[in-house]
Amino acid sequence: MNYKGVIFDLDGVICFTDELHYLAWKALADRLNIYFDREINNRMRGVSRMDSLDILLERADREYSVVEKEAFAAEKNAIYADSLRQMSEKDVSDDVRNTLKTLKERGVRIAVGSSSKNAPLILERIGLDEMFDAVSDGNGLEKSKPDLEVFLKAAERLGLSPAECLVVEDALSGIDAGVAGGFATAGIGAAASYDKADYKLEKLSDILSL
Ligand code: BG6
Ligand code: MG
Repeated sequence: MNYKGVIFDLDGVICFTDELHYLAWKALADRLNIYFDREINNRMRGVSRMDSLDILLERADREYSVVEKEAFAAEKNAIYADSLRQMSEKDVSDDVRNTLKTLKERGVRIAVGSSSKNAPLILERIGLDEMFDAVSDGNGLEKSKPDLEVFLKAAERLGLSPAECLVVEDALSGIDAGVAGGFATAGIGAAASYDKADYKLEKLSDILSL
């Protein structure tokens, strides 16, 4: 590992909450009679809750007020948060767990860099709330990915410069944020084939040889 620090996105990298986001948005879209599929959902990866809602509403046949939109976002989040409460340590794969453990053993500093306001709850549910040296999440964030803010905060909290850190992301917006911040970037899942990513991962443990 040529990096002193690794900043991991949470949803879709550390755990598969990206699927739970999809199911919750799908439930809202179905209730509103708005077409929604996994391809549209892919555009929401890394993007804040309200920006994600705007993507969903692109296919609506009418405009909605700010108050209505806030109610929709709250409705989606209630469905999503309910599904998070079913999560446990079993929702972290051996590959993810071993990768984090190996990095720590090697003295590499690790952080979470997530747009999610639910990140603290998720980390607690999956038993990783004590694992990371720093957490930078959607709480208190002014701009969401593709803005670089979330990763800059994570690097700062690790006491490292962007050039010393690798960002691992499943979102195109997250790779863009990493590039904008001057970080090396590794794409996994939906971002594995993104040409802006410096590295393409099949599984998280592939970063151990970078
Ligand atoms: C990101 C997800 O991690 O968090 C996005 O990739 C999501 O899909 C965003 O919209 C915000 O999440 P939350 O939990 O604050 O609604
Ligand atoms: Mg993600």
